[in-house]
Amino acid sequence: MTVKMISVVKNGLHGTVKIPGDKSVSHRSIMFGAMNESGKTVHITNFLESADCLSTVGVMRSLGTKVEKLSDGEMMVTGIGLNGLKEPSTVLDAGNSGTTLRLMMGMLAGRPFLSTFAGDASLSRRPMGRVIVPLSKMGARIVGREKNSRLPITVLPCDDGEKLKAITYDMPMASAQVKSAILLAGLRADGPVTVIEPYTSRDHTERLLSASGVKIEKSRTAVTVYPTERLDVPTEIAVPGDISSAAFWLVAGSIIENSELLLTGVGMNETRTGIVDALKNMGADLTIKNKRISGGEPIADILVRTAKLKATCLTEEIIPRLIDEIPVIAVAALLAEGTTTITGAGELRVKETDRLQAIVDEFNKIAPGHVDGTEEGLIIHGVTDRSKLISAHCKSYDDHRMAMSLAVLGCVCGLSIENADCVNISYPVFYDTLEMLSK
Ligand code: S3P
Repeated sequence: MTVKMISVVKNGLHGTVKIPGDKSVSHRSIMFGAMNESGKTVHITNFLESADCLSTVGVMRSLGTKVEKLSDGEMMVTGIGLNGLKEPSTVLDAGNSGTTLRLMMGMLAGRPFLSTFAGDASLSRRPMGRVIVPLSKMGARIVGREKNSRLPITVLPCDDGEKLKAITYDMPMASAQVKSAILLAGLRADGPVTVIEPYTSRDHTERLLSASGVKIEKSRTAVTVYPTERLDVPTEIAVPGDISSAAFWLVAGSIIENSELLLTGVGMNETRTGIVDALKNMGADLTIKNKRISGGEPIADILVRTAKLKATCLTEEIIPRLIDEIPVIAVAALLAEGTTTITGAGELRVKETDRLQAIVDEFNKIAPGHVDGTEEGLIIHGVTDRSKLISAHCKSYDDHRMAMSLAVLGCVCGLSIENADCVNISYPVFYDTLEMLSK
């Protein structure tokens, strides 16, 4: 068990951070590269070499794809065609990664071979029925523990030549992982497949499908994919910086006195920028500069300076646009003036840990009585006197975003974090960057 001590940052955070590659786009770049026409390569730059994305690399290799590391953050994938994946000889290990598991279930549904997935303790607790149900409606045969809802999961073979069935599916929740699994399975269906979300979640899969020559139609929160025989994946994918990683610096730079940070190459896909809207609404001093396009996604640099924050109210429509940022937004809210309410965020209960409960339990050690949990959200009473904050010993619950959010809070009050090395899941150099910016 690693315990990380986070000390109070006395003179602000200063410097420039090149934001590491986007986790969602990194996963997809490898998966799409594999589905490319046989022998065609995809060159990926700014690839996020974190534990989660390496789970996808491992799974794709087990399925017969060539994935080479050329240099740090630079990968080369050689396609084996949409129908070229091979039966794995061992269990596919998705590690901690929901994206690997859920998207790959969509890619492996209705194949003429058997594949079995396993994962770590956290992933084994997370709900998978949300993907198995729609894929089963398409004719895939998938079995798992607890009435086909938990790992380990086996995708059974279909008869050779048999196609998945076209469906229109109303998703009960906004989820890019569920949507992507259905769209990826839809590539091999016998007709167009439509998914409808309550609110639009991140659209990286749709963008990459479109860029690979697949016919995609969008109408409000519905997406339709047309089946295809082949993908022409872009030969170069420059992964944008992950706004979910930038989020820690957006909040840290805002709440730590005398800070000024320049975050470069941040992905600004509008399905992901809820954090920028929320923080601006709270009074954060953010300047967005140098907007440009990279790898089919908008990116920009963001200058953040310390500001006095005020409370906000986040309701269900914005949640999918900042789903992974709620723990660190909760840090901003704890140090803002007034009471912040977050509703419609029940999905946080089924992330790497129950993040609503984790925030309530850990934040109340630092600021007793300031955070109340509701079934689907949080009520956070801002702390006006920072000297009252307690330097507590906190748990990460092995959840990377909880660990990093607590570290940001620790820059204000000092604290220790148990199992702190789980940041490797999405941001391996997080603590080094924090140290560099505090000097
Ligand atoms: C992701 C989708 C989101 C997000 C996760 C990455 C993706 O999950 O929380 O970190 O890459 O599609 P849900 O689909 O469960 O909301």
